[in-house]
Amino acid sequence: MSSTLAYQDGRLHWHRHDLAGIAAQVGTPCYLYDFEGIRANFRRLQAAFPSAEIHYSLKANANLAVIRALHAIGAHFDAVSGGEIFRAVQAGVPPSQIVFAGVGKTHRELDYALRLGVGWINAESSGELARIDQLARSLRATPRLALRLNPDVRADTHPHIATGHAAAKFGIPLAEAADLLSAHDPSRDAYRIEGLHVHIGSQLGSVDHTLEALDAALALMDGFPFLTTLDLGGGFPVSYTGEPVPTLEAFAEPITAALQGRPVRLILEPGRYIVAENGILLVEVQYVKPTSDGVIYVTDGGMTELIRPALYAATHGVLPLRHMPEAAVISHVVGPVCESADVLRAVVALPLLREGDLLAVLHAGAYGAVMASNYNARPLAPEIALESDDWRVVRRRQRWEDLIAEEV
Ligand code: LLP
Repeated sequence: MSSTLAYQDGRLHWHRHDLAGIAAQVGTPCYLYDFEGIRANFRRLQAAFPSAEIHYSLKANANLAVIRALHAIGAHFDAVSGGEIFRAVQAGVPPSQIVFAGVGKTHRELDYALRLGVGWINAESSGELARIDQLARSLRATPRLALRLNPDVRADTHPHIATGHAAAKFGIPLAEAADLLSAHDPSRDAYRIEGLHVHIGSQLGSVDHTLEALDAALALMDGFPFLTTLDLGGGFPVSYTGEPVPTLEAFAEPITAALQGRPVRLILEPGRYIVAENGILLVEVQYVKPTSDGVIYVTDGGMTELIRPALYAATHGVLPLRHMPEAAVISHVVGPVCESADVLRAVVALPLLREGDLLAVLHAGAYGAVMASNYNARPLAPEIALESDDWRVVRRRQRWEDLIAEEV
């Protein structure tokens, strides 16, 4: 449990905010974000990598208020869709501070990005280069590109979020990248390739494979002096329930050492590290069902709000909002969705709860609300920003009417 989360007078507080008090006003399920914590983690990254340009990965949490808060303290942004670029621009981010990445950029998305003038496009295939070339010519633009490499390293993480092995759909194999770079002629091509991009996975369990990928990228850069920039992606891990994970410094030290003496501009694209621990999902127990090994709590939040347990067997901490010293029972916290995978926490010791009790699902700030869905016609949950003195709704709860608004 983070030091900023504590029971005061028997009620769970986050900083000075009484969480049940907020839930009483906005209802459940709802997402809460600690904005001071988000800013603090961004600053930790800046301190660990003082010469890097940090592009917050919007896919982790793209609420406009989160984007604005990070933009205000100097973050740049990593977008993987036209929609994410649109969100960033709506939040006031200059397009020049956006990297447009992604394996499947459509014609329309590239057209939008080129017209806006995004800072970088990370290209992932020769087909994409051809498409960018053709579009840039017609728009008389000269976009700056990084080639995304597939370094063929296997990241130490869940298979669903490993991206750097040869069979992955991501990036360009090293040999092909070398050929593309040799063939690049800035006087003929409508784009300028100035960088390389490598992202081998998310929630990285060790630093070693990142360093392997870094070595491969640097070796390639040596042959092509027009490559000035290396984007090392994201992936810095978070300890979800106290398990050991490599620290930021464990990444920063060898990366900085490997770049020592090279005139390379470093870009990073962290998402999870900045926001994961700064988000909580609040849910309310609807029903208490006895089961063979303990008890099932059916709550009003589930895989539609937080799909990570169902999709990656991810484990999130769960805390009751009311402090109960009673003996714990084996509990399964599940959602209301008609799927057996709809579990928030499979096995956890909790005090015996009753209908109406509230639970905080921890570390839900990254890949939580952004991966929510309307399955079972469930409206998206509201999102609340906590600042040190007050809190505000930064996304209102969807209504049933919103669910049918686009249907004709
Ligand atoms: N850059 C690229 C090219 C990426 O693909 C990703 C994440 C990031 C940066 C940010 O990675 P981070 O720092 O957040 O690890 N939904 C999954 C995670 C998917 C990550 C996808 N790419 C989860 O909930 O664990």
